[in-house]
Amino acid sequence: MKRPIFILFALLTIASVILTACAPAAPASPEATEAPVEVTEAPSTGGVEISKIIVIGKSVHPYWSNVELGVKAAGKALGLSEDQVIFFVPPKEDVNAQIQTMETYIAQGATGIAIAPSDPNALEPVMKKAAEAGIFVTTLDTPPVEGSVSKVYIGTDNYSAGMMAGETLKGLLPNGGVVGIGRGSDTALNALQRTDGFLKAIEGSGITTLEPLNDKEDSATALQLANSAISANPDMAGAFGVYAYNGPAWATAIKEAGKVGIIKLVSFDATTDIINGIKECVIQATIAQREYDMGYKSVELIYKMATEGVEKAMADMGVKDGVIDTGVDVITAATLKDYEAAAKAKNIPLDWNTEGWDPSACK
Ligand code: BGC
Repeated sequence: MKRPIFILFALLTIASVILTACAPAAPASPEATEAPVEVTEAPSTGGVEISKIIVIGKSVHPYWSNVELGVKAAGKALGLSEDQVIFFVPPKEDVNAQIQTMETYIAQGATGIAIAPSDPNALEPVMKKAAEAGIFVTTLDTPPVEGSVSKVYIGTDNYSAGMMAGETLKGLLPNGGVVGIGRGSDTALNALQRTDGFLKAIEGSGITTLEPLNDKEDSATALQLANSAISANPDMAGAFGVYAYNGPAWATAIKEAGKVGIIKLVSFDATTDIINGIKECVIQATIAQREYDMGYKSVELIYKMATEGVEKAMADMGVKDGVIDTGVDVITAATLKDYEAAAKAKNIPLDWNTEGWDPSACK
């Protein structure tokens, strides 16, 4: 991934525009996501038979349930039956379960498989096996290794989004301080790229970071690690939650330690627990991904690859350099109501609201 220095300035500008306007172009959770333009009449497959389109995620979590909603909505819009569109996640980070699931669907002659590889090096051989069997292989949420057989990565630009998180925390900690990092993987590229981007953004500031804590996508472990880090570092000034449950894990630990507002917290994603953390002033900002879109577009792309051919499908879907960047929104207490209003204006159902909540409580 290219990381020119000027990207930092570009990001700052983009982030500040988003923070000011906060009109979610396609917000993070399914409730809050602008559904991609849905096909009202199922398109013709042009005589091509779709066997199965498989989407493999990483862990059981509301974030992945949002991806699943996108997957199912795309299948429906494309006129596919429930048996033709399969979504799978293991309970927590589990590379072998992902490999086994790929093997199962290679043996069944799937049309295409979209996977979020928890360990891109470990997954690549089975992804190659699938591609060699004529199965379309793409990735979502978590990028593959460089030179992968995955034709397209659909998701967040994780390095840039990590930088946004770092810039945001830097703004919250003008005097620097010690910051803890919680993440769900030491191998998944999205976790590594977010951390790299974050570290790049805080370079030269007074912020120092503790070693990232790896919970392997297990939220109970994430909470234990956050609790221990706060007890062991009484001077902790900030925390960064790299994966969707890391923000809530830090938030609980911060509340239990009586340090709301003292430890500044920046998280990823916009599931309901995270929005609640913002409303309770324990999470100061979150980088909301658009996971529903990742699921939706993964199915749509594979379908088009099968029915229209790879080149046309990629052109139709706006693939650039092998990537469909689904984008992010930065949400703070100051912009949450705008985020909600923008979602409502698009008739996106939310399972939270800000009624009776006053953002000035978080100042
Ligand atoms: C990440 C996913 C991860 C999820 C839940 C998200 O922020 O993009 O890769 O599985 O959090 O842990």
